Amino acid sequence: MILGLDPGDAPRVRRADWLTARLRAAITDGTLAVGSYVPASRALAVDLGCARGTVVEAYQRLVEETLLVAEPRRGIRVAARPETMHAADGMNPATSACPTAAPFIDLAHGVPDVTAFPRAAWLRAEREVLEAATVAQLGYPDPAGAPELRTALAEWLARSRGVVAHPDLILVTGGVAGSLSLLAQVLAARGERSVALEDPGAAGSRLLLRRWMPHLDGVAVDEDGIQVDALATTGARTAVVTPAHQYPTGVVLAPERRRGLLGWARTVDGLIVEDDYDAEHRYDRRPVRALQPAEPGRVAYTSSLSKTLAPALRMGWLVPPAGLHAELLDLRRATDLGPPAIPQLALALLLRRGVIERHLRTVRVRHRRRRDALVAGLRAGLPDMRIGGVAAGLHLLVDAADADDVELAARLAAEGVAVQPLSQLYADAAPRSGLVLHYGGQPEHVLAAASVRIASALRASPPA
Ligand SMILES: Cc1ncc(COP(=O)(O)O)c(C=O)c1O
Repeated sequence: MILGLDPGDAPRVRRADWLTARLRAAITDGTLAVGSYVPASRALAVDLGCARGTVVEAYQRLVEETLLVAEPRRGIRVAARPETMHAADGMNPATSACPTAAPFIDLAHGVPDVTAFPRAAWLRAEREVLEAATVAQLGYPDPAGAPELRTALAEWLARSRGVVAHPDLILVTGGVAGSLSLLAQVLAARGERSVALEDPGAAGSRLLLRRWMPHLDGVAVDEDGIQVDALATTGARTAVVTPAHQYPTGVVLAPERRRGLLGWARTVDGLIVEDDYDAEHRYDRRPVRALQPAEPGRVAYTSSLSKTLAPALRMGWLVPPAGLHAELLDLRRATDLGPPAIPQLALALLLRRGVIERHLRTVRVRHRRRRDALVAGLRAGLPDMRIGGVAAGLHLLVDAADADDVELAARLAAEGVAVQPLSQLYADAAPRSGLVLHYGGQPEHVLAAASVRIASALRASPPA
């Protein structure tokens, strides 16, 4: 019997659960060593006397947990031993050699389904690029980014987001973080003393901007997005916003607020930084148009591959107003001479061939299923739970009413579920209590298990 596995009398519907748990245990105890290949699904199915689909399902789940990795034409290899385990596949601990480590489900960080990363296509593209790279392409790169990528990005951003961007205006950056950092440094060098940020907002953006700007102003967000009246009282002339899917509340900037925001920028002769971080992910609503095309001279548009492919690529882009371009480029040159060329050329190929758009269609379906699994699980546990921001993106917001969300998060962490307390994402405004749940990186069965724990923690939660 391959791997000494014996499904015994396990009911048919539970066999995928059983097999997943046993394989995970075999990886944990080293029976299946890291680097080794698991048996072909057909062979293991014959050996176990179960359907091949059962084996495929178990392998797929472990690929999603990143314990296994599928290698085209070679097979499925053990990628890692579980250290912090995703323990939530409904297995019976009594029948499993599985983990002694505390189970851990990370819903605190916003990552997409990186198991869907188009590894083979990316590798092929890099190989093609390297085979064909000219002497000039292997020399010092253009500090603005490879012209091939900027051209492909201009077309894609126009098509997908309506962004008005001549390739000469685009800067390839190290993600949204890289764009914000460049902008803040240039603005500070121009004498700007403060930047306004949505409150609540992304902790990472705040942390980064604090490094370069003497002062940050938090501006309250309501169900229509950033409160423009409040923004106007801050004295700041730069505002960083997430209009398509506000982070973390998930609200869309309402049409009159969009007009108001653009009007504010004109009045103060200021700049709107449009962080379009997850706008490619929308499920039950029409795409929300980017702000940038309404006033390209007042909006710096930025986005990245972090929510579409993988944050590890550290690749993003910035479309600034023309008047800022020279200073940004100068800073980029003075910082590191520009981003690495080979991955840019690979991305340009993938964009031109439609691979990225196909990938987006695939992950949208997967992310939607993940969102549905989480929402269904939460509602099953607590039917009147208030859940926001579900129509788009890779996270949602659960209202924790009067409960202390930090204490709730600590309790959930002790049970192996990491979540982001909403109150910690406020800077100045009176904090609301809630849980921000990033579902993009977790498979459905893990989300289903996490939702049971979250709902039960919320049910048991006393008012703060
Ligand atoms: C509001 C917001 N903007 C941007 C990003 C992505 O940043 P980067 O492109 O630097 O990875 C994130 C990541 O979680 C985010 O929450």
